[in-house]
Amino acid sequence: MSTDEYKRQAAEAAVALVQPGMLLGLGHGSTVRFALEALAAQLRAGALSDIIVVPASLQTQAECERLGIPLGALNDYAQLDLTIDGADEMDGQFNLIKGGGGALLREKILAQNSQRLAIIVDEGKLSERVGSRFRLPLEVLPFGWVHQAGFIATLGGAASLRVTAGGEPVLSDQGNYLLDCDFGPIAGPAALAAALEARSGVLEHGLFLGLATDVFVAGADGVRHLRADAFTSPS
Ligand code: A5P
Repeated sequence: MSTDEYKRQAAEAAVALVQPGMLLGLGHGSTVRFALEALAAQLRAGALSDIIVVPASLQTQAECERLGIPLGALNDYAQLDLTIDGADEMDGQFNLIKGGGGALLREKILAQNSQRLAIIVDEGKLSERVGSRFRLPLEVLPFGWVHQAGFIATLGGAASLRVTAGGEPVLSDQGNYLLDCDFGPIAGPAALAAALEARSGVLEHGLFLGLATDVFVAGADGVRHLRADAFTSPS
C-alpha cells in the first residue's frame, strides 16, 4: 500500500474521534488534508453536525472553505476539544518533530489549547530518536536570523535557511523565516527545547513534547491507536 493510503487510513481513524458539536483544531500538511476530506464527507452524509474547525494555516483554511467545513477563530473559545495534526517524525515516547510544512507556530498554539491532540502518521515517520530522519524546523524572526544560525551551531546543530526554488527565503504565514536544523539523533529533546525557548528571535521550534494524547499510526499491519495515558496508568 502507498504512503498516501497509510496517511488516509490514519486520518480517517482519528476523525472517528470527532463527535457532533466539537470544537476542532486542524493542523497542516498532506495527512491533515485526508482528515479534512473525511470530515467533509461525514458532514455531507449527515453523520456529523455543528463542528467548528480552527485551522493552523492559511492553506488549511482555504481547504476548509473549499470543502464547506465551518471555520472559527481560536480567540472565541476557551479551549478546543480535539486537534488533529500530522508530524514529520515521532519516537516511542510521543516526542514529535513538526514543521516540515512551516506551520509549527500555529500548530503548537492549537496543540497547547486543546484537550486532546491526535497525531496521524504513517509508520515511516517512526524512529528511536527524533532528529534521526528529519531536521528540526524553527520559525525565526527575519531580523538577525543569521545570528540564530550561529546560535544553533553552539548547540551542536547545523542550520539552513529554508528557501524557495528561486532561492528566496520561504515565509511562514506570519511572514517569518524558517531554519531547518540538523542535530542528528537528539539525545535530550527537553534540554534542547529549553535552550531554544530561551533564545530571543527564535519564535518557535518544532519539538512537540508531552502534547500528543493520541497517536494513529498506519502501516502494513493496519492502524494502531496509541494513547499517551498508557505511559502512566497501567491498563
Ligand atoms: C506542518 O508544519 C507539519 O508540522 C506537518 O504536520 C508535518 O510536516 C507532516 O506533514 P505531512 O502530513 O505532509 O507529511
